[in-house]
Amino acid sequence: MEQREAAERAGHLRQQLDQWNYQYYVLDDPTVPDAEYDRGLQELQAIEAQYPELIDPQSPTQRVGAAPLAQFQQVTHQVPMLSLDNAFDARDMQAFNRRLLERLSLPDAQLEFACEPKLDGIAVSLLYRHGVLERGATRGDGTTGEDITQNVRTIRSIPLRLRGSGFPDVLEVRGEIYMPRDGFERMNRQARERGEKPFVNPRNAAAGSLRQLDARITATRPLQMCSYSVGLVEGGRLPDRHSEILRCLAQWGLRINAESAVVTGIDACDAYYQSLAARRAGLPYDIDGIVFKVNALDLQQRLGFVSRAPRWAIARKFPAQEEVTRLLDVEFQVGRTGAITPVARLEPVFVGGVTVSNATLHNADEIARLGVQIGDTVVVRRAGDVIPQVVSVLVERRPAGATAIVFPTRCPDCGSPVEREEGEAVWRCVGGLVCSAQRKAAIKHYASRRAMDVEGLGDKLVDQLVDEGLVTRLSGLYDLTLTQLVALERMGEKSALNLIDALERSKTTTLARFIFALGIREVGETTARNLAQAFGSWEALLAASESDYLAVQDVGPVVADHLVQFFDAPGNLEEVAALRRAGVTWPDIDTANANALPLAGQTWVVTGKLEALSRDEAKALLQGLGAKVAGSVSAKTDCLVAGPGAGSKLVRARALDVTVIDESALLEALAQHGVTV
Ligand code: IVH
Repeated sequence: MEQREAAERAGHLRQQLDQWNYQYYVLDDPTVPDAEYDRGLQELQAIEAQYPELIDPQSPTQRVGAAPLAQFQQVTHQVPMLSLDNAFDARDMQAFNRRLLERLSLPDAQLEFACEPKLDGIAVSLLYRHGVLERGATRGDGTTGEDITQNVRTIRSIPLRLRGSGFPDVLEVRGEIYMPRDGFERMNRQARERGEKPFVNPRNAAAGSLRQLDARITATRPLQMCSYSVGLVEGGRLPDRHSEILRCLAQWGLRINAESAVVTGIDACDAYYQSLAARRAGLPYDIDGIVFKVNALDLQQRLGFVSRAPRWAIARKFPAQEEVTRLLDVEFQVGRTGAITPVARLEPVFVGGVTVSNATLHNADEIARLGVQIGDTVVVRRAGDVIPQVVSVLVERRPAGATAIVFPTRCPDCGSPVEREEGEAVWRCVGGLVCSAQRKAAIKHYASRRAMDVEGLGDKLVDQLVDEGLVTRLSGLYDLTLTQLVALERMGEKSALNLIDALERSKTTTLARFIFALGIREVGETTARNLAQAFGSWEALLAASESDYLAVQDVGPVVADHLVQFFDAPGNLEEVAALRRAGVTWPDIDTANANALPLAGQTWVVTGKLEALSRDEAKALLQGLGAKVAGSVSAKTDCLVAGPGAGSKLVRARALDVTVIDESALLEALAQHGVTV
């Protein structure tokens, strides 16, 4: 290629790659497969290698990280980077509102507030001059930060050059760099596999990744940036409302938070807080509160600042997700598959909105990694509905009498030996169904809502049934008699009748639920559904070979091996036969016609509150009709079912022109395909 032609091609590729990058990292809406992107990038790299004079510092090839620095340079923030005042409850918010109205002499006004999630990451400043990213800096003490330009350049959601036009000559964008949870989990999994120390939480991971003198390391970390304000602005004007400024930033290619909203009046701020608090665990990133900002810039100016925080903004914090407490003891629980899990007994502590007195320690390796001893002061984390975890130890507070944790060599339930397979972290009791702990766990799983859904058969009752010797195997559930149940402690005749009834109803099920209910190792709900779809009947599943299993979506060698082992063990097949004799039944699936399912090939998303169905039920029914049900809206979504309270997904669907229907339309659509609720 001649230089002129190469220059033209490079320009075209850069534009194309920038566009794909923007769609992928800023809009979360990828338009081409990764392979296509990689091909484009490779071609551009080849051109730039042949003609180094064509290299442009803003080229997408220039995001891999530069040579390591000896140290970070200091930078001075011309406009200081402030912090925020905190509110902890609705009363604090009312007080905030009163202060605002008083200072503005607007006693009865309903002010407009911009509401934004408070991302738990690292504050940064990005300086754009004539639309080109010139400098990235940490907040530091608010006046002096560190120059991390090399590092921020590796983050794909940060444009190296602004899109469009109309931006000021000098524009300092401020925001948060954070690590989304899935990236954090992935990174920590890899670290554990390499025997390295994992990060305690996404915030620490983001901070550690960003403060690398070698930006090539930063480049490998799944960091993201979300903009929430501006600092220095010269040679241009911005709109006079905060929410409009964010809109401009989005137009110029910066990422802003999809949950951002504008509300009127302080009570609406409370409603926003409550609704986001309820969805917090489902967000793909950690947030530690909500930031409320007076939206009108002239009012912001009139309100001004106190020391280091603006008077016009406040952060309403969620209850802390990490707390410090003492480890009183460790007990060892035996799970369904015999896995022995160490459980920390803690001095009760209020964390993540509830009192926690137990937390998981995962396995023996984790105990070793934490270096934890009984009597230690530990940090406990409870985020969302996740099981509380011990995340670290304050070794400097270790008391004199602390004792080492001894992992059992025999099952604490049945006394059978414990073993661990090579390469596995988990020790297991080899007792199988001899072990009553495993039996209990297997029955609890079988009866659970997403499996056979035996209403009223809770954990305590299962413990009782097994301890009394009334149930020794899954099929034994269906032999229970009214007389036996009524004789149990704390069991009335009505509940006993209800349970017999629920057991009877559970017998009519689906193949997918039945496969899931068996508790085959590593066979979760999705895998069970894929197996049911692929084989259609129990007989076909049983007759299949390991390579047939491997051909099923989501089934890898580990799952295939567990399936083979499950079917090879004679006891298991006998048990399935006994369950079927007891009347457990399901319709076979016509696999030849699987593609003819009415919603096959379609992707649906369900959001908001539904009345007649739970979201899980709606999802299961849609999947039954062949639809794929996704967690987020993209241009490929065919239909969004939106109930009251739908938020960003609805906004996105409208923006992307995706069909939106409400619950009654969903019920109608289901009825059309013969599904009535
Ligand atoms: S506004 C003058 N908005 O919270 C206003 N801050 O103590 C300054 N943060 O370290 C900040 N999300 O990095 C603002 N939507 C948001 C935010 C946010 C997170 C962080 C910020 C700062 C701390 C404030």
